[in-house]
Amino acid sequence: MWISFAGIITNYKDVKQFLVQKGHKFRSDTDTEIIAKLIKHIHGLHPNYSFRELVEQVIQQLEGAFALCFKSMHFPGEVVATRRGSPLLVGIKTKTKLATDHIPILYSKDSPEKVELKDTQSDHRPHGHEIPAHGLARSQSTSEFLPQGDNKEVEYFFASDASAIIEHTDRVIYLLDDDVASVEKEGVLKIHRLKRTLEDTHAREITTLKMEIQQIMKGNFSSFMQKEIFEQPESVVTTMRGRINFDSETVVLGGIKDYIGEIRRCRRLLLIACGTSYNSAIATRQLLEELTELPVMVDLASDFLDRNTPIFRDDVCFFISQSGETADTLMALRYCKQRGALIVGITNTVGSSICRESHCGVHINAGPEIGVASTKAYTSQIISLVMFALMVSEDRISAQPRRSEIIQGLRNLPDQIKEVLELDSKIQEISKKVFEKKSLLVLGRGYNYATCLEGALKIKEITYMHSEGILAGELKHGPLALVDKGMPIIMICTRDNVFVKCMNALQQVTAREGRPILICHKNDQEPQKYGSSVLEVPKTVDCLQGILTVIPLQLVSYHVAVLKGCNVDCPRNLAKSVTVE
Ligand code: M6R
Repeated sequence: MWISFAGIITNYKDVKQFLVQKGHKFRSDTDTEIIAKLIKHIHGLHPNYSFRELVEQVIQQLEGAFALCFKSMHFPGEVVATRRGSPLLVGIKTKTKLATDHIPILYSKDSPEKVELKDTQSDHRPHGHEIPAHGLARSQSTSEFLPQGDNKEVEYFFASDASAIIEHTDRVIYLLDDDVASVEKEGVLKIHRLKRTLEDTHAREITTLKMEIQQIMKGNFSSFMQKEIFEQPESVVTTMRGRINFDSETVVLGGIKDYIGEIRRCRRLLLIACGTSYNSAIATRQLLEELTELPVMVDLASDFLDRNTPIFRDDVCFFISQSGETADTLMALRYCKQRGALIVGITNTVGSSICRESHCGVHINAGPEIGVASTKAYTSQIISLVMFALMVSEDRISAQPRRSEIIQGLRNLPDQIKEVLELDSKIQEISKKVFEKKSLLVLGRGYNYATCLEGALKIKEITYMHSEGILAGELKHGPLALVDKGMPIIMICTRDNVFVKCMNALQQVTAREGRPILICHKNDQEPQKYGSSVLEVPKTVDCLQGILTVIPLQLVSYHVAVLKGCNVDCPRNLAKSVTVE
């Protein structure tokens, strides 16, 4: 048995205990092994079951979130794959056109019966004849799916992310929870479901990916992360393309324009996310409050769920996620949807679960992000939320000067990002001074606070060095005790409404012999005299400044990771999509 497994089986101990009682021996303590042993066990009880029927029986016994793909020497030439709570797609490659863009869903004729694990030896087959959901005869519906013409050759690819298969094919089917896709000997793909529910659609659509192969190649870069950092002058443009008219100073987000009235009338905005996506919410909260004049709550999805947060029908809940598959964010989304709130998805992955389950939303269009450390998605998330704030406030006369300065700030951003990226070799030199240290503090406040959190997250994540983003206003409430001449500190001090307070914090640090690396505006002499090194960034509007100040920190984390010999794209213990709670 060959199993490819992503996710977590929460009842694996119970299943294992049962199988041990039945005499199965285990070689590991993994969830994957219980799946293999369970299918073997059910096959022993029901040798006449098809491969797909066995898998259907197995998943009825499993709890948790998973994507699974099975092959077996007992069923040569066949593959069965299924998902629940974890993403899974099927890529289809043919020499000729397919006869249809849809594959019908097949259901069991009789209501499905779950094999009881306390097992009798009955060989009752749980399923009758398959019937397609739309009522077509089985042969008619499945043969429609084959390629047209004489060449019926077809290849299938199973993956959790489109970027894994784009080099082979751009045609994919996104499976839904509890779909069971099987490729049988004759090469026909069928999708089954155990139960028919009211919300079921009758077929799964074949989607053509818009991704280009170059987008998932590293090119001349040493890692995807480095490539993605350097893509930001272009990725911010694709996020804004077709949405902002810089001359008429108008912003239209097609995915939410029909809901703007409802949003303006809402009780409050909630921004819910994890990790970097959460930091993008912190980065834009102040502007959202200012331009929407609504209360804005920002929550980590896991904490939001732990608190059973009260949600009302007139709440508008934003779920921000690069992958669109993060389990905590998705569960928080379902929690809010059940309570009648309007659900807005902000994702980078078209067709992802968050995207499908939202009422409306914005695709950030940053292009595929492959490095585990999120970089270009962060800056595009910020821009998407800024565009949302601009759109909601377009009818406020008093907000026009502010909207105008932000729109012109967005226009200049790509060139300013290029300028920041020119600091790369200077940042590499600075990184050499800190890469052997144990800890790195990142200090700032106001709009730059999110940069501190995000910079520290990048540093922890890919360099394994301790790093903390600290709100400079909190310095006196504890963190100042950490400061001495040996503590590496990066401090962000740009000219905005908290500049004077930041200078104050800077002096407190230097008074304790701290010699911070400073990120400040170009040619701004005042803070520069306190820095051990200085990284000068161009000035932009306060609410966009975080986009320019985070890039030096992305580069610091990248260079420190390289100097330490860490795997930049695949840091230990982490995954790109966190599809388990
Ligand atoms: O795909 P998401 O944006 O929902 O992922 C959320 C976090 O897991 C993610 O941002 C994580 O923090 C990044 N790896 C950080 O670089």
